[in-house]
Amino acid sequence: GKGLAVFTSGGDSQGMNAAVRSVVRMGIYLGCKVYFIREGYQGMVDGGDNIEEANWSSVSSIIHKGGTIIGSARCMDFMQKEGRLKAANNLVSRGITNLVVIGGDGSLTGANLFRQEWSNLLDELLENNKITKDQREKYKYLHIAGLVGSIDNDFCGTDMTIGTDSALHRIIEAIDAIVSTAYSHQRTFIMEVMGRHCGYLALVAALASEADQVFIPEDPVPNNWVEKLCKRLQQERKSGQRLNIIIVAEGAIDREGKPITAELVKKVVVDNLQQDTRITVLGHVQRGGSPSAFDRILGCRMGAEAVMALMEATPETEPCVVSLDGNQAVRLPLMECVRRTKAVAQAMADKNWELAVQLRGRS
Ligand code: F6P
Repeated sequence: GKGLAVFTSGGDSQGMNAAVRSVVRMGIYLGCKVYFIREGYQGMVDGGDNIEEANWSSVSSIIHKGGTIIGSARCMDFMQKEGRLKAANNLVSRGITNLVVIGGDGSLTGANLFRQEWSNLLDELLENNKITKDQREKYKYLHIAGLVGSIDNDFCGTDMTIGTDSALHRIIEAIDAIVSTAYSHQRTFIMEVMGRHCGYLALVAALASEADQVFIPEDPVPNNWVEKLCKRLQQERKSGQRLNIIIVAEGAIDREGKPITAELVKKVVVDNLQQDTRITVLGHVQRGGSPSAFDRILGCRMGAEAVMALMEATPETEPCVVSLDGNQAVRLPLMECVRRTKAVAQAMADKNWELAVQLRGRS
């Protein structure tokens, strides 16, 4: 059977295990020899026990677990040619020419570059007598399929990344918990949520929790935000509300690009309204814990589709990323999605927020 390996890379997210499980089982079902690569690209470079053959039962009882059982890492060695040569050697010696990478845009870009370089890497390995002529010929094509695992929902081309729904559940649970204590003491709470440069988690959490205000990177507040915020909070209290909830995305900014932090918002509320105010930073709680049903199913569907894409690949097939479009699992050109995701980052850096939001849209 064909050699296929799965690995997780970059920040973990809930639902990655469901995807790993699905890749392993679909691979075995279709007659492949399936391997885990532990600790992301680092394990690919280091080889040895990090690359281990998987069987049907090695992915039993993992679908309900958060994180990734095969580990994840940010790897410096893979950025060096030396590291990639070692990685290629480790794959060829095991007959692995199909890779499923589960990670964010950085991890997917790395995989694409590796594929582009594959032929040269094999030539160099052959020259140095690390592989045989037969191996050079037999394993001359590397096929890549990507799955996007990230709680941030920050990848262009897919409606939802694996982990976002679970992170939202965690955030909403936390806000509900805060609301009950805030009510008792008539307090204002400022909740900082994750998302790096993407306000999706903050925005959707604000809608679902009836928050009074949300600050996100894609919609920087105007200069008079202090006045507007204070007016709104005051109005809410006057109309009988006993508490206020404000959600701040970790990357929130004003129109000059200066950070809007939870501390800053607290100071504004305390100085202007003298409200009893507390900050809760949710942090990595958002990335942990068991995956939601949605993320389990998403991981399963994406994993199976990735394996099918690899099995159908011809030498000309470009790397794909498996995405969710409406309720369909679709294959999109990996590099096109990465390019768009990077264009969003650039638009944000250029303070062209309208363009950033437009580019994030479906297609
Ligand atoms: O990308 C996922 C994420 O959790 C972001 O929301 C957050 O900004 C970042 O990773 C935190 O990174 P680290 O886990 O390295 O602290």
